[in-house]
Amino acid sequence: MNYPIEQIRKDFPILTQEMNGHPLVFFDNGATTQKPQVVIDSLVKSYSTCNANVHRGVYKMSRTATQNHEDARATIASFIGANTEEILFTSGTTEGINLIAYTYGEANINEGDNIVVTMMDHHSNFVPWQQLALRKKARFTVVPLTDEGDIDRQYFKKALAIPHTKIVALPHVSNVLGTVNPIEELIKEIHAVGAIAAIDGAQAVAHMPIDVKKYDADFYTFSSHKMYGPTGIGALYGKASILRAMPPFLFGGEMIENVSTDATTFTDIPYKFEAGTPNFIGSVAFAEAVHYLESLGMDNIEQYEKQLSHYAYTKLSQIKGIKIVGNPSQRDPVLSFIPITAHPYDLGLFLDQQGFALRSGHHCAEPLMHSLGLTTTLRLSLGLYNSVEEIDAFIVALERSLKMLS
Ligand SMILES: Cc1ncc(COP(=O)(O)O)c(C=O)c1O
Repeated sequence: MNYPIEQIRKDFPILTQEMNGHPLVFFDNGATTQKPQVVIDSLVKSYSTCNANVHRGVYKMSRTATQNHEDARATIASFIGANTEEILFTSGTTEGINLIAYTYGEANINEGDNIVVTMMDHHSNFVPWQQLALRKKARFTVVPLTDEGDIDRQYFKKALAIPHTKIVALPHVSNVLGTVNPIEELIKEIHAVGAIAAIDGAQAVAHMPIDVKKYDADFYTFSSHKMYGPTGIGALYGKASILRAMPPFLFGGEMIENVSTDATTFTDIPYKFEAGTPNFIGSVAFAEAVHYLESLGMDNIEQYEKQLSHYAYTKLSQIKGIKIVGNPSQRDPVLSFIPITAHPYDLGLFLDQQGFALRSGHHCAEPLMHSLGLTTTLRLSLGLYNSVEEIDAFIVALERSLKMLS
């Protein structure tokens, strides 16, 4: 496969840094990703040449800034197969999910209804639904996983069969186990009982081509910073018919049609959900990240990362002192493991001393950790700039660290 890894690595200035006297090896891409120079340049360019508030000025710079912001929305929409007006800018996945819970959820969930989530959901796609259920006296059903780390499909069917199932929230990809859920099939099952599907795409969008129309997702949320774009911006896709029927989330400027002392009417989607000044500098840089991904090709990225994670899995599974957590049927480039005799934090610190940045903790997935009987794992989450050489160096450092800790 012709994947220009050396050239790609040169696009990311941070990768030339040393960490604790060693070349930086960044394996924490599930938490956030590094930025290519084109994204950094976009931020500097917007602030240097086109910094004017959007949707409210008749002067040229404001009109250009508005055009750039709206072009960015179109770019992001087309990247996931959505229509432009179905993309709402948010501050990230977490805000997107809360938006759904506070608007669609408040308007449509009643006492006795059933909300379904899975044991592999990140707190961002768990707590907002749990709290909605508590506010509404609704039922909150958590679908367990198989030993391999896939959704238990028998239990999933049972959860859907509970009367008045209204919302099913699930991740496209697990941030701990790397499980890629068959969301197209799951969404069919969800729709068959008349519920809607809210998909957390935070760990998927940087790693595979996404097509929300093909999946027939009702909602799909993601964050720019996990896909090589800037921090502080993300997007929520919602089907136009559902978004139009939803009440607004935040109230303020730009989301109104008319305001009088007695009443306010609201404008159309997507602006109805975008009160106040949007992150118009971030949106343009977010679109630049999408252009960057498109220039490499999502199919190529997916294929390259699959090979890389298969390589990492094979190498890691040969190491005696660790245990890999989960073995799902479809895996994104995310691998969790625990050292058998040492504490994951200690191992994480030893690896940091050798230049390797990887996450140790509960990964904002405490229900999953409890179900696995664990409190902490180490997580290797790969990105499009990681290389076979980095994995080889990591394996050497890991074995050395395990020896020192034993
Ligand atoms: C699966 C998943 N969902 C949601 C989030 C929350 O994303 P953000 O912090 O960008 O809102 C994360 C972040 O790690 C995640 O991995």
